Amino acid sequence: MKVYLRTYGCQMNVRDSENIAADFVERGWELCDDAKSADAVVVNTCSVREQAEQKALGKLWHVVNDRKERGDGLPVICVTGCMAQNLGEQISKVVRGVDIILGARQTHKVAEECERLFKDISAKAGTRKRRALVNIDDDLQSHRLINKHIAAQTRPCAFVSIMQGCQMNCSYCIVPKTRGVQRSRPEGEILDEVARLAAGGTREVTLLGQVVNAFGKEAGGKNSADAFVSLLKKVAKIDGIERIRFTSPHPAFFTDALIDCYAELKELCPYVHLPMQSGSDRILKLMRRPYRSKQFSEIVGKLRRARPDISMSTDVIVGFPTESPDDFNMTKALFEECAFDMAYIFKYSPRAGTLSAQMQDDISDGEKEARNQILLESLRVQSQAFNDALIGTVQSVLAEAPARRGAGLLMGRTPHHRKAFFKAGADGIGKFFNVKIETATVSALGAHVV
Ligand code: SAH
Ligand code: SF4
Ligand code: F3S
Repeated sequence: MKVYLRTYGCQMNVRDSENIAADFVERGWELCDDAKSADAVVVNTCSVREQAEQKALGKLWHVVNDRKERGDGLPVICVTGCMAQNLGEQISKVVRGVDIILGARQTHKVAEECERLFKDISAKAGTRKRRALVNIDDDLQSHRLINKHIAAQTRPCAFVSIMQGCQMNCSYCIVPKTRGVQRSRPEGEILDEVARLAAGGTREVTLLGQVVNAFGKEAGGKNSADAFVSLLKKVAKIDGIERIRFTSPHPAFFTDALIDCYAELKELCPYVHLPMQSGSDRILKLMRRPYRSKQFSEIVGKLRRARPDISMSTDVIVGFPTESPDDFNMTKALFEECAFDMAYIFKYSPRAGTLSAQMQDDISDGEKEARNQILLESLRVQSQAFNDALIGTVQSVLAEAPARRGAGLLMGRTPHHRKAFFKAGADGIGKFFNVKIETATVSALGAHVV
């Protein structure tokens, strides 16, 4: 039995897919990378922007069409994740032939349901039920079930989801609707998972959550003890864990105690992804982001003082309803002041069911694109400057994989999350190397082992 898994969206979705894959492997399935010869196809989807949904629907349409040519009724086609949650049964009306629709809190049922239907179809020689199985209910224990990894597949760097859902209500964002309210995993279960990964060879963990630094705060609000900081300190003590990253923190929960960790915890990498969204206070307010540009820039300043070599990335939305050229210029100014060396810049996409979808999407596509390009150009300059400054320095890199272009090169990341390519044998994967940086482009470093 073979399963093909395709994932769209954020790291949390990638992590959910790993969990799904582990469930299949536990049941004796094999993972494959060809949807046409698979017995089950699982598409784990994202709804964050219109385009993300279009891509997933396009993919589903293709697999349904390819199935028609096979004649054995296979593969079973399952859609899960945020779009499954968001659109539910409607998906089977848009793409006829989808068999299973499981919401973002039902991903732990994917393998079981696919197998059940696979056996049914095999036994009845290709006949299938006309109606799709749809389950988009909440499952109160779902956050405790994202803890599986494929044992034989330990990687140097691993993701660990520490919570599910989101408790914020940014006016543009569909995530609280698709992922539901925030639920943090019990600390002990997270630590067990990290310890298991470390024992299997993982050296770097990235803790994941939509508002990762609000870990444990769903009940007590901002003033409760800093459960996230305490978790970080415990993870840092686990044998074998030499690097920690996390994503995405929210500026509203970026406490001084968390900033201090950058100075105190040697395992915490000098890299932070801090979503800014806009530099205009008027727009931030409309976005329902509970901080203003001044507070944002203060956090950035404190982080740079705590860790002068820190690399920073961000998310920005351009073309939010009513965003004027002045508003945009404030975003550009803050973006440059913070000197982000990595960024994801998104064109605003209205999402049905969100607050801002009630506002008129009044910035033209052309204008959104123009603003996007302006920020991309600032980003190019900032990224290049960051990488240029590394030339001549010696950096510790954790070798992750052979370089795609081969040539006896390995790819590893510096503590700043910058990709470096260097010559070393494949047995070096999972190990740390000290490398001297020789060349730099916007996105990568050329280096040699010293
Ligand atoms: N939880 C994270 C991000 C989740 S979504 C955070 O709060 O930072 C990833 C990014 O997608 C967001 O940071 C935002 O920049 C972008 N995004 C979300 N909704 C969007 C929309 N409707 N249109 C365009 N970009 C959007
Ligand atoms: Fe969306 Fe805001 Fe939650 Fe991030 S914090 S997932 S942008 S609602
Ligand atoms: Fe997309 Fe869902 Fe992540 S909407 S960004 S996959 S939480």
